[in-house]
Amino acid sequence: MTTRVLVVGGAGYIGSVCAAHLVDNGIDVEVFDDLSTGHAAAVSGRLHVGDIRDRSRLIEVLDGGAFDAVMHFAARSLVGESVAHPLRYFDVNVGGTATLVQAMLDCGVRSLVFSSSCAVYGVPDTLPIPEDHPHRPVSPYGESKAMVERLLSACRDREGLRVTSLRYFNAAGASGDGRFGESHSTETHLIPLALQAAMGQRAPLKLFGTDYDTPDGTCLRDYIHVLDLAEVHRLALEALVAGDPGGAFNVGTGVGTSVREVLASIERVTGMAVPHAEAERRPGDPPALYAAAATVRARFGWHPQYTHIDDIVRTAAAWARSPRY
Ligand code: UFG
Repeated sequence: MTTRVLVVGGAGYIGSVCAAHLVDNGIDVEVFDDLSTGHAAAVSGRLHVGDIRDRSRLIEVLDGGAFDAVMHFAARSLVGESVAHPLRYFDVNVGGTATLVQAMLDCGVRSLVFSSSCAVYGVPDTLPIPEDHPHRPVSPYGESKAMVERLLSACRDREGLRVTSLRYFNAAGASGDGRFGESHSTETHLIPLALQAAMGQRAPLKLFGTDYDTPDGTCLRDYIHVLDLAEVHRLALEALVAGDPGGAFNVGTGVGTSVREVLASIERVTGMAVPHAEAERRPGDPPALYAAAATVRARFGWHPQYTHIDDIVRTAAAWARSPRY
């Protein structure tokens, strides 16, 4: 029988790519999204417009939908905004998820794949970061993801929820066919900002901090292609539906790439230099974040395809030149 999945937050950057990937793999998909930051044009399958804090609306959609599982991407995700307005993050990310899980259980839907983040770890004690590293988030955004993971564990132990949390490192890139990519009204991420600066669409990129204790003085991050993320979601979902006990897993390549290396990659791939100016460190940026990435591969048989930064930048650059939405 075909698996049916409600993709909550399926109009956003990562959710839309995952929803399309599920459809491409023969899974029935419907999307629930409030369209506050997502795009209707990015949706695969039927769209239900609604807010995850609205339990009766969720029940309306879940009840009778015969869903086997939910994938949950809906969240506020601007780290800086979360520092200025923490309550928005606890309200939507934590409160919204509690409401979603209650509605799922009310409707007999017990399997959940949740979008978590490496932001749960804060400034790590060890690199690469293992899954059992303590959670010491340094922003309300990271705190909200850590709180949700605890909430979900409690619901697994006491409420019969079956759940896998995937802690993404830095999601990046676009689908190679021009269908999906990153279009945020407030863009804070390095690769799209650098590409737009290279194309002359915005001011030179500010290089936030060049005096870190890293090989070239700039921060190291683990960039993971959004299509590889989509694939690991599908594998985790299929495993969960087939009886896998779930858990929480890092999703990264395990490779740390510096900000300067990203700019060099953009120049190599596009032939365009990225105009930039050295700037102060951005508050809350850990010097280095990269994943101990073996567990998720062993568990789900996942093999990321876009393991070189140039592969990620190539698809992001194609999207930046002609975004569909
Ligand atoms: N950077 C710049 N200039 C910019 C933007 C970013 O130098 O204009 C640098 C940042 O300082 C950082 C790197 O580029 O060193 C990557 O920054 P991003 O904003 O693209 O990504 P982050 O690593 O800050 O954020 C990611 C996820 C968040 C998550 C966070 C955890 O996008 O959701 O990791 O630290 F919370």
